[in-house]
Amino acid sequence: MIERGDDPADGWFPESVAADYDDPGGANAPEAVTPAVAVLAELADGPVLEFAVGTGRIGVPLAARGVQVSGIELSRAMAARIATKPGGDTLDVTIGDMTSTRVPGEFSLVYLVFNTISNVTTQDAQVEVFRNAAAHLRPGGLFLVEVGLPDLRRLPPGQDTVPFTVTPGYVGFDQYDVVTQEFTSNHVTVSPDGTGRFRRIPFRYAWPAEMDLMARIAGMRLKHRWADWDRSAFTADSAKHVSVWEKGRALA
Ligand SMILES: C[S@@+](CC[C@H](N)C(=O)[O-])C[C@H]1O[C@@H](n2cnc3c(N)ncnc32)[C@H](O)[C@@H]1O
Repeated sequence: MIERGDDPADGWFPESVAADYDDPGGANAPEAVTPAVAVLAELADGPVLEFAVGTGRIGVPLAARGVQVSGIELSRAMAARIATKPGGDTLDVTIGDMTSTRVPGEFSLVYLVFNTISNVTTQDAQVEVFRNAAAHLRPGGLFLVEVGLPDLRRLPPGQDTVPFTVTPGYVGFDQYDVVTQEFTSNHVTVSPDGTGRFRRIPFRYAWPAEMDLMARIAGMRLKHRWADWDRSAFTADSAKHVSVWEKGRALA
């Protein structure tokens, strides 16, 4: 939701969101960041490119491990935080849309984490993300996606809404369209003085098998599918997946 002072060009992550994106805890806690950075550092075998690099939550600590990190990011407000962080000025960040923006260089690894493939809300555009990732990879290079699975098992017949948090000051719920695979995440926050804030962000889910097909369209094949950054096995009960596709060595 756009608030006063936000630039509409920054999409769903304008200044009012960027301002507290790096608050401690949650996705910024070391328990969340360190395992992701460890896996990415191990997969990197040369320069890497983060699609939707945001504020550098992952890219900056990865660069601190000696990896050369570039990034593409839609929101100037988010990207502006990167250079303010220690070591952030070593990242080469391009403002643009990851479905189409090309940056110079050939990369060993392109990665797209924290559910951000779902911010791309059509199947065609998600395919373009895969194609653009492959276009940046050298033969044998890897594309990694981290994304949650839709909670459709919690939808009884005739219902389209799944609450994920209900507390006195905050209610969060996802609303699904199982035909288009579009969904919205809805956040209602009520302050102690009774004033409220409602944020609604559109997404599209794609099944792991659908992503495998997108990867094949882009000339890549599945190499790993884990349930989380700990590389545990992906099962029917997994809430998310970390998947890695490899670009064919014989393909351009
Ligand atoms: C949930 S944040 C993740 C940021 C960062 N990767 C992280 O892990 O903290 C999603 C980011 O994706 C960016 N984004 C969304 N759609 C994009 C697109 N089509 N191209 C580039 N960036 C995009 C948003 O501006 C936002 O910074």
